[in-house]
Amino acid sequence: MRRYFKLLLLILLCTSLAGCRLSRVPKEEDNNLFVIGFSQLGSESDWRIANTQSMIDTFTNAKGYELIVENALQQQDNQLAAIRRFILEEVDMIIIAPTTEEGWELILTEAQEADIPVIIMDRSVSVWNKDLYLTNVGSNFLHEGKLAIQWLEEQKIDTGDEPLKIVHLQGTYGATSQLLRSRALETAVNEHENWEIISQLGGDFTEARGYEVMQQFLYKNKDVDVIYSENDNMTFGAIRALDEAGLTYGPDGKVKIITFDATKKALQLCLDGKIDVCVECNPMHGPTIEKLIDQYRKGEVIPKTVYMEESIYTREDLTQDFIDSRGY
Ligand code: AHR
Repeated sequence: MRRYFKLLLLILLCTSLAGCRLSRVPKEEDNNLFVIGFSQLGSESDWRIANTQSMIDTFTNAKGYELIVENALQQQDNQLAAIRRFILEEVDMIIIAPTTEEGWELILTEAQEADIPVIIMDRSVSVWNKDLYLTNVGSNFLHEGKLAIQWLEEQKIDTGDEPLKIVHLQGTYGATSQLLRSRALETAVNEHENWEIISQLGGDFTEARGYEVMQQFLYKNKDVDVIYSENDNMTFGAIRALDEAGLTYGPDGKVKIITFDATKKALQLCLDGKIDVCVECNPMHGPTIEKLIDQYRKGEVIPKTVYMEESIYTREDLTQDFIDSRGY
């Protein structure tokens, strides 16, 4: 009865909210599928598309799952609304890829009070009570940043009496991937007397914004040694701006390019001598999360933090076969 009342409430809620959809029938009417509500933060990058696909490919009906995917278009408010719908629909589990770290305590408490377990994936949430979620599956973003820094140190770039001039393209402010990749660079700059961040530009992890901010910057100043770009799509935008400004880049050019994600297109640019180094951020979370859910359902204890396996690539590490076989 409680469920029918909730369903009625959901219908009333949905008819009063533009853009909301009733995405599934109540649990009693489906075939014992394990229902997962997945709040994906957006579709801002090639990485994100691959990440969503990995979840869809993993949690199939054939394997006993029903996956409801809600795209929040990079807006936390949209995520909160989607999660409230999942709670009303009484899903079996909620998975959240959060936009930014702050602002999750209340909604996670609501999920906990409804007895729905939550998994956080990709980025993290900043909450006092860690019992509000089961596990956080994602990347070690600080380690990624440190790998990039180590590579830059190894280049021993000679700038004479001048500082090493770094343009820092930043992802969505407040996202774990932005905060920790930025921290790695800022810490390193404090430790290297002749390294200087000449500008920090917000690119929101998108190609369009990466292009726009880089173009505006190069209009005023073309004296750049390094671009530290916190994701591939911003890098693609920056490369377009560099081309338009007539600057050379990559291993044989003037501007060194460091990028994060290592998607297929970035790896190809690296092999073609347009990007110096790709630090991998692995988007294929589906199989890892499936394993953890399996363990959880068997009553086993699962780790609170799980990092994806990742690597770093320069032109020397790559072959065309390797790039061709990459799925994203
Ligand atoms: O949080 C992971 C980051 O988000 C990826 O580096 C980026 O491409 C995505 O948008």
